[in-house]
Amino acid sequence: MSKFNFILLAVLAFTVLSCADKDGKGAQYFPNMMYSDAYETYGEYDIFYDGQEAKLPVEGSISRGWMPYEYEDNLDGYDAAKADLKNPLDYTEKNMNKGAELFNIYCAICHGAGDGKGTLVQREKILGVPAFDDQGRAITEGSVYHVIRYGLNTMGSYASQLSQEEMWQVNMYVMKLKGDLEGKEQPPFEKEQ
Ligand code: HEC
Repeated sequence: MSKFNFILLAVLAFTVLSCADKDGKGAQYFPNMMYSDAYETYGEYDIFYDGQEAKLPVEGSISRGWMPYEYEDNLDGYDAAKADLKNPLDYTEKNMNKGAELFNIYCAICHGAGDGKGTLVQREKILGVPAFDDQGRAITEGSVYHVIRYGLNTMGSYASQLSQEEMWQVNMYVMKLKGDLEGKEQPPFEKEQ
């Protein structure tokens, strides 16, 4: 086909096809695709028992990567976590390094190197940030997890920023900082699996 004929055909085809009804959608080959019978996620339909398409998860459902946390957000829960809750992660260099990295991102701005003298404290933007070796608090890995998960007074919860595993990694590093401040020697790491 010569170039000229091709252009002529293209113009002709365009002219014919563009003559469709202005308000209509032109020829439809798959009307079922254009007008889908599918239910919209947040639509309301009679066929559902509560009229709603979107459903809440079944009661007792647990998000992926999360385990239920049985300690309540109150003083009794804090005391119980402080006494009983233990870090389930292996004590490895990898977990410790990840914990240090996350601590420096999320916590060091207030807690510094665990001494409670982070940048915000030095600039007097926040008060009452304790050192991790504070004798009156005597933090344990259980209490630290509880506080990261729920927050404590002016310190917010980190449950939406950190996964459960990450909270335990940060926790490992917090306990290391505490040991450093107390001049304790750190135990040797376990071998990576
Ligand atoms: C905005 C500043 C700020 C940030 C960021 C912050 N904290 Fe705190 N943290 C505080 C303050 C203030 C307290 C004292 C709360 C109180 O006892 O009223 C505290 C208390 C603590 C305690 C002692 C709790 C106890 O049992 O007495 C620990 C442990 C702790 N924070 C860990 C962390 C970790 C881990 C992170 C990062 C995931 C973090 N904090 C981030 C301000 C902060």
